[in-house]
Amino acid sequence: MSNVDREVSRYGVLGQPVAHSKSPRIHAAFAKSLGQKLLYEAYEIAPDELGPSLTRFHGEGWQGFNLTLPHKTAAASLCESRTDAAEQAGAVNTLIRTATGWQGDNTDGAGLVRDLVANLGVVVKGKRVLVLGAGGAARGILAPLLAEAPSILAISNRNPWKPEEIAAAMKPLGNIVPRTHLSLKGDQFDVLLNATSAGHQGSVPRLPPGLFAPGAIAYDLNYGPASEPFLAWAKAEGASKLSDGLGMLVEQAAEAFQRWRGTRPETTAVLAGLRAG
Ligand code: ATR
Repeated sequence: MSNVDREVSRYGVLGQPVAHSKSPRIHAAFAKSLGQKLLYEAYEIAPDELGPSLTRFHGEGWQGFNLTLPHKTAAASLCESRTDAAEQAGAVNTLIRTATGWQGDNTDGAGLVRDLVANLGVVVKGKRVLVLGAGGAARGILAPLLAEAPSILAISNRNPWKPEEIAAAMKPLGNIVPRTHLSLKGDQFDVLLNATSAGHQGSVPRLPPGLFAPGAIAYDLNYGPASEPFLAWAKAEGASKLSDGLGMLVEQAAEAFQRWRGTRPETTAVLAGLRAG
C-alpha cells in the first residue's frame, strides 16, 4: 500500500457469508455522490475470528465497520462502549473508531423508520403496528418504532416467551404488547413488519388470516428472495402495500455513513440504482 493509499480512510463490512453484501456498492456510491474518497471492503470473518480481527483492524487504523450476519449480537459485547440504540437492540450493526477501541451503534431501526416514513410515506403515528419475530432484527427496530407513537406496538413470535421478555425489558421505553401468533386471530393491523428469518428457509410464520386492516402495508426487513414468501403471503391476504427491506438497507447505511463522516448522503438515487440491478 502506498503512502497516498494510507491517507484514505478505511471502512468495511464483516460477515459470513459476505460476498453477496451490497454495502461496498452502497458506500462507494455515497462517497462518490459527496465527492469523498474512502476505501470500503467486505471481509469474510468467522465468528471465532471476530474479536481478534477487530483488535487487528483497530491497530491498523481502520475507521469503521458495518456488521452483518452472524456478528451483530456477538459484536455488542466486544465493543468498548455502546450507544443507546445498540443497548436497546442488544445488537450492533455499526462500529465507530475511538482512540482506544470501538463504539458499537445500531442504525437498523433508524434506517427502517426512515424508509417507512420518508421513502414510503407510511404514517406510523396513531397506527396499529405488528412486528413478527423476536431476534436481533426485531429488537433493533422496536425503540425507533415506539418513538413514532403508534397506537399499538405488538410483537409476536414462534417461540412465545421471547416477546414477553422483550416487552418486559423495554418497559421503560414504552408499551410493547407481547402476543402469540395464534392469539392474533380477529385482530387487524395497519403496519405488519416481518423481522423473522423464516424467508431464508423459504417459509412464512404461521399466522391467522385477516390481519391486514384496509390500506395496510406489509414490510419485510429482508430483501431479495428471502422477502418473497412473506410478501406473497401478504398479497394473498389483501395487504394494500408491499415493500421489501432494500430501502432499509440503504437508509441504515446512510445513518452509518453520517456517524463516520458527519454528512448524511442522499439515498434516493442509490436505492433506485440498486433496484435497477
Ligand atoms: P435475527 O438476528 O435475524 O433476528 P435470530 O436472532 O436468529 O436472527 O432470530 C430469528 C427470528 O426469526 C426469531 O424470531 C425466530 O423465531 P424463534 O424465536 O421462534 O426461533 C424467527 N424464525 C426463524 N425461522 C422461522 C420460521 N420458520 N417461522 C417463524 N419464525 C421463524
